[in-house]
Amino acid sequence: MMTESRASVLVETGVARHGLDYSKSDGASTIVFGIYAKNNGAKLYSVDNNPENIVTCQKTIDKMNLSSYVELNTADSIEYLKAFTQKVDFLYIDSYDYNRNNSEIIKASQAHHLEEIKAVEKKLHENSIILIDDCKLPGGGKGKSAIQYLQSNGWKILMNKYQVLLNK
Ligand SMILES: C[S@@+](CC[C@H](N)C(=O)[O-])C[C@H]1O[C@@H](n2cnc3c(N)ncnc32)[C@H](O)[C@@H]1O
Repeated sequence: MMTESRASVLVETGVARHGLDYSKSDGASTIVFGIYAKNNGAKLYSVDNNPENIVTCQKTIDKMNLSSYVELNTADSIEYLKAFTQKVDFLYIDSYDYNRNNSEIIKASQAHHLEEIKAVEKKLHENSIILIDDCKLPGGGKGKSAIQYLQSNGWKILMNKYQVLLNK
């Protein structure tokens, strides 16, 4: 779908904090989208507020020869998205960690991902694609509030699995 829509500006919140280690449990999104960027003349802008995670991820990006296609930024994701100046073709949100056993964290994670959407929404366009991680979880997952908000603003769910994919 990203290839069909010629997505060239990709934005991610929450880097692959272990590089390629533990990718089955924790993900390897920055590397996967970085490879897409390399193969499709695109660029991935990724943000994380933990400098150690940035350092670890950058090492893998360098090792995989992806550094020309991936820019890692140390910042709070909401502030970063507010300040982002380009139109976003593909948005992947996966920052504030979710904990199904802690209702305060559930609320905070859902609120944070909703605020990410609000921070970036003016930079999305008719063909933008949004992917939200960690959704099919007790309590509704990271995307619960963000998805409700997006649906009430004309976004449609294309895939409703552990990750939820939306477009207009
Ligand atoms: C689940 S991990 C990201 C996993 C990665 N997307 C993958 O699939 O490999 C969540 C990351 O979000 C970062 N994070 C948490 N709160 C954040 C915030 N407010 N702003 C930016 N990054 C944040 C954490 O430091 C952590 O590295």
